[in-house]
Amino acid sequence: MKGILLAGGSGTRLYPITLAVNKHLLPIYNKLMIYYSLSLLMLAGIKDIALVVNPHEKEMFKHLFKSADALKLKLNYVEQDKPLGLSHAIMKACEFPEFKDSPLMVVLGDNILYGHTLPVTLEKAKKHLMERGGAYVFAYHVPDPQRFGIVEFDQEGRVLSIEEKPQNPKSSYAVIGVYMFDSTVSEKVKKVQPSHRGEYEITSLLEEYLKEGTLKVSLLGRGFAWFDAGTHDSLLEASEFVATIEKKTGLMIACIEEIAYINGWIDIDTLLKIAKSLSKTGYGKYLKRLAEE
Ligand code: G1P
Repeated sequence: MKGILLAGGSGTRLYPITLAVNKHLLPIYNKLMIYYSLSLLMLAGIKDIALVVNPHEKEMFKHLFKSADALKLKLNYVEQDKPLGLSHAIMKACEFPEFKDSPLMVVLGDNILYGHTLPVTLEKAKKHLMERGGAYVFAYHVPDPQRFGIVEFDQEGRVLSIEEKPQNPKSSYAVIGVYMFDSTVSEKVKKVQPSHRGEYEITSLLEEYLKEGTLKVSLLGRGFAWFDAGTHDSLLEASEFVATIEKKTGLMIACIEEIAYINGWIDIDTLLKIAKSLSKTGYGKYLKRLAEE
């Protein structure tokens, strides 16, 4: 399975903060927003990733991830020249020969997900999908369903409908910005037509699987915290949440070097080398402690 990380867009809901800086490069407490979504792909064991960016911001992301090779990540940069929606971004990434006809995990760059059973949940969905095909969405109970894609499902967890930002939501379960698709995704995404707001919506791609009866939902229960850090308030809430958990536990959320180490992608010497380069910060001291433990 390969990964697509969506980091384009104009971040208009965060203006004026995002007038000059891409939303995904804003800090959430002690690391950049994009670390949280990248860590979800890494937790699912995915190394080969297409990073979809705005053309004028590509160099900034390249600079940020110039040492990604050291973590054994293979980043492919995909330019999305127009903000034509999430399915359009997937279409662009599928133009890469190695992404075409591959199962994909797609993560929206402003999603922050935390929970003890997260790696198991992702692994379970991935295994199910690799064996039986179809697509997976992950749903989270929210108080304000009008703001999200909303999934309706039956008692067996079969998806009945998905509606993008409905006025009369059929459930209170939001589809979070993490999706898994089988290898037919590159063909299905070509069928997506622009919506009334002129965008190629992710919901339309999910509907292709829904029509086939192969769309499944994995419910993220009370043990999870999910933030879509796309507004001023959610940006602050996410930072406060991460700071609280990290200070209480002494463990970091979305530390990409730690995940690479735990996954067995880097050895202790590489970890110590990275720790040394960040030694003036709590982040670097954390990596050093991790290596020593
Ligand atoms: C997007 C999706 C929506 C999903 C949300 C989660 O909305 O279109 O279905 O619930 O992400 O973050 P956006 O945040 O782009 O409005």
